[in-house]
Amino acid sequence: MLKSQLFARKTVDQCIADGSVGGGLRRSLGPVQLTALGIGAIIGAGIFAAIGTAISGDSGHVGAGSAIVISILLAGVTSAFAAITYSEFAAMIPISGSAYTYAYATLGELLAWIIGWDLILEYAVGNIAVAIGWAGYFDSLLRGLGLEMPRWLVTDLRTALHNPDLVAAAPHLGPIPIVFNLPALVIVGIITVLLVIGTKESAWVNTMMVVIKVAIIGLFLIVGLNYVKPEQWSTPAFAPNGIKGISVGAAIIFFSYIGFDAVSTASEEARNPQRDIPRGIIWSLIICTALYIAIALVLTGIIPWDQLNVPDPLAVALQYIHADWAAGILALGAVAAMTSVLLVFQLGQARIFMSMARDGLLPPWAAKVHPKYKTPHITTIITGIFVAVSAAFAPIGWVLELTNIGTLFAFVIVAVGIIVLRRRDPDRPRPFRTPWVPVLPIVSAAFCFYLMYNLPLLTWLRFGLWMAIGIAIYFLYSVRHSRVRREGEVGR
Ligand code: ALA
Repeated sequence: MLKSQLFARKTVDQCIADGSVGGGLRRSLGPVQLTALGIGAIIGAGIFAAIGTAISGDSGHVGAGSAIVISILLAGVTSAFAAITYSEFAAMIPISGSAYTYAYATLGELLAWIIGWDLILEYAVGNIAVAIGWAGYFDSLLRGLGLEMPRWLVTDLRTALHNPDLVAAAPHLGPIPIVFNLPALVIVGIITVLLVIGTKESAWVNTMMVVIKVAIIGLFLIVGLNYVKPEQWSTPAFAPNGIKGISVGAAIIFFSYIGFDAVSTASEEARNPQRDIPRGIIWSLIICTALYIAIALVLTGIIPWDQLNVPDPLAVALQYIHADWAAGILALGAVAAMTSVLLVFQLGQARIFMSMARDGLLPPWAAKVHPKYKTPHITTIITGIFVAVSAAFAPIGWVLELTNIGTLFAFVIVAVGIIVLRRRDPDRPRPFRTPWVPVLPIVSAAFCFYLMYNLPLLTWLRFGLWMAIGIAIYFLYSVRHSRVRREGEVGR
């Protein structure tokens, strides 16, 4: 394989021209809807579920304690740097495909493939974690209403392996016990149907849910504020595990920021992408960071730091101060919050697959747009099946960490891409410019590496395995079908 072939690039103009191929998607989203899309993707299982183990720790890692506020800031700064670099690309190349498309224009086909494959971790695997988190809150909501589902219908395989009583109580198909997470499976199915029918309708549903979740967070803050004991913010509850706890906490809670980049995957559906995509990304990030810091302060102020290793930490904190009514409403809001995350990520994943198929790196049927609904229905359905089936069986912890490592890796490649494209194509109009290039992108990559470094070895191994499978597929299929290569459209 010739080196020049592996590093074949699309020009930025090719990327933009390709965006209009395939009948085109409807341009229906304005700045407020795009910001809502960002918030819809950002606030979800991270702040409602993962924050608990980030504070208390669990069997796999230590907790940050009340110093979670610093972890949140660290993860927020990492995301902000990445958001700035993403915005430059998103405004310059305003078409579907996110970091995958940017890499194709800057770093060449092999790296574009690698990042496209890696983004499956962020979008589809991330959604597996969110669907499991959704099911956890849905289950506690039902229980709050006095409706108990059989445990074998809300349990992942790993928990089942450690729980012989539960397995014994489950119905059997011959020798095989039936144990899976039914709510996670069903919610992903519903989301998939909604997305096949159309983005506009889905974005409207998303906006409604964003309003609900911000209101629920407001409720948590107002109810909790009166019970805050400031002494819980001082030592020893503050940073019980020192810098390590804070850093690991940041690597976990980073999940709660993932999603601002999903705004860029809707570029082809934005009315004025050059102006509104960077705005949507940056505004959604600012709003979420402010909310997270407020939540963390109240949460660690009202309940001791070591009591939060639970699936529904915010609800448990409200129960701790005997505000059970508020805990019930919060559980309902958390379910809505995670539903909107699921929507945005399923939408983003299908569009990334579509971009890769347009380029010939995936089979051509994956690029088809539905004649009536104007949505990439085939990739939407395939993503839906993959996420739904995985969510029915996988444990949340390792899915979440795998998502984080994959996303951080994507951010590193985007940062490098900014530097490369400034050198290679300095005169191209950049409606949004990253300041202090190359310093800011280098700092951005360094922050991402630091968070990756704080994830467990096992997560690194799973990540390595995933990438190895991706590279194998590239050399077995994509390399022979690449459109850029077939048509000799190799970039300068
Ligand atoms: N940031 C998204 C969430 O926390 C992925 O659910």
